[in-house]
Amino acid sequence: MNIAKPDYKVDGNTQARLDSLLARFEEHGPRNVGYPCNSIFDYSALLPFMGYVINNVGDPFHDSNFRSNTHDIEREVIAQFADMMHLSQDGAWGYVTSGGTEGNMYGLYMGREMFPDGVVYFSQDTHYSVVKILRVLKARNIMIKSQDSGEIDYEDLRETIRINRDSPVIFMANIGTTMKGAIDDVGKVRDILDDLAVTESYIHADAALSGMILPFVEEPQPYGFDSGFDSVAVSGHKMIGSPLPCGVALTRREYVARIARSIEYVGVLDTTLSGSRSALAPLILWYAFERYGMDGFREMVSRCLDVAEYAVARFNDVGIPAWRHKNSVTVVFPKPSEYVFRKWQIAPYEDIAHIIAMPHVTRETIDEIVDDCLREDTER
Ligand SMILES: Cc1ncc(COP(=O)(O)O)c(C=O)c1O
Repeated sequence: MNIAKPDYKVDGNTQARLDSLLARFEEHGPRNVGYPCNSIFDYSALLPFMGYVINNVGDPFHDSNFRSNTHDIEREVIAQFADMMHLSQDGAWGYVTSGGTEGNMYGLYMGREMFPDGVVYFSQDTHYSVVKILRVLKARNIMIKSQDSGEIDYEDLRETIRINRDSPVIFMANIGTTMKGAIDDVGKVRDILDDLAVTESYIHADAALSGMILPFVEEPQPYGFDSGFDSVAVSGHKMIGSPLPCGVALTRREYVARIARSIEYVGVLDTTLSGSRSALAPLILWYAFERYGMDGFREMVSRCLDVAEYAVARFNDVGIPAWRHKNSVTVVFPKPSEYVFRKWQIAPYEDIAHIIAMPHVTRETIDEIVDDCLREDTER
């Protein structure tokens, strides 16, 4: 039995609005170099799925009364990320989120449920959403100083944990900070916890961008569940590329039982933060893994790192002190003129800015940006 499709013809005004919106996106797309969103993708094979009411409400690892879902596809995506994050298939649980923020909220929620009187430690360079998440969760928290590199200041962390030694530690690790691409060394953090004889701890990793880089490089900084993660959030619309914001929250299956509640109305286990969830987002991520495979992503990441290295060299050649961290596609340089950061959608922060070498950013793009930085404002 088919449901009749509505017979609706787009009127001239509506079409004009849609056309002008499309033109705007076409113009801005190639010059988005300040935000980590891969703009090169083709999901047209998935367009037919826009014609159905599909919804992944509930736990992707359990049945749902809402049958038009992509839970099976979602489980494959989670299995893929579990593999990349060094978590056994049997021990893995996760779901496709609406983006990095939801993944971080999930991880910190889990940490707070495991240790309700725990203190959350996070660095100054942590993504801005975390302060809001901690307010929502009403979790005790302490901000730790960052080093100039963007990495957490381990001495400040040690001293602060020492003073609060009677409380469990929930550590929010940055596996690639937003502005500088800095990676907190979870090995060092675990050493601090061992030295201070902290027995109750939980590490959540925000690997929004670098979660799709480190699995593909030869000498990654420590990352993954074998390095001590208890949960991780990775964005889907960043390195993978997606027209819909999305991401993945991944944790250990044994922890999830603590928050699961069975909901009769939808016949699901309520283990996710949102109720109704996109069924298209898991399909998009799954399709990207089908399309690229691990080798394709390795090649993509390698090209991005190459462009990032080229950018550092080009800036330095003309006397602009740009730099980047090992295995990072984030190129940090002094805040350019307003003309440059507006033209290239560069995100300035205090006196610095960054270019993020995503797949659509080429060596030619970098040449153009460097030329723009060299020109005086008055020439424009
Ligand atoms: C390090 C980091 N964490 C979290 C986020 C939040 O991700 P989203 O915007 O997908 O919620 C971002 C966004 O840029 C980020 O850079």
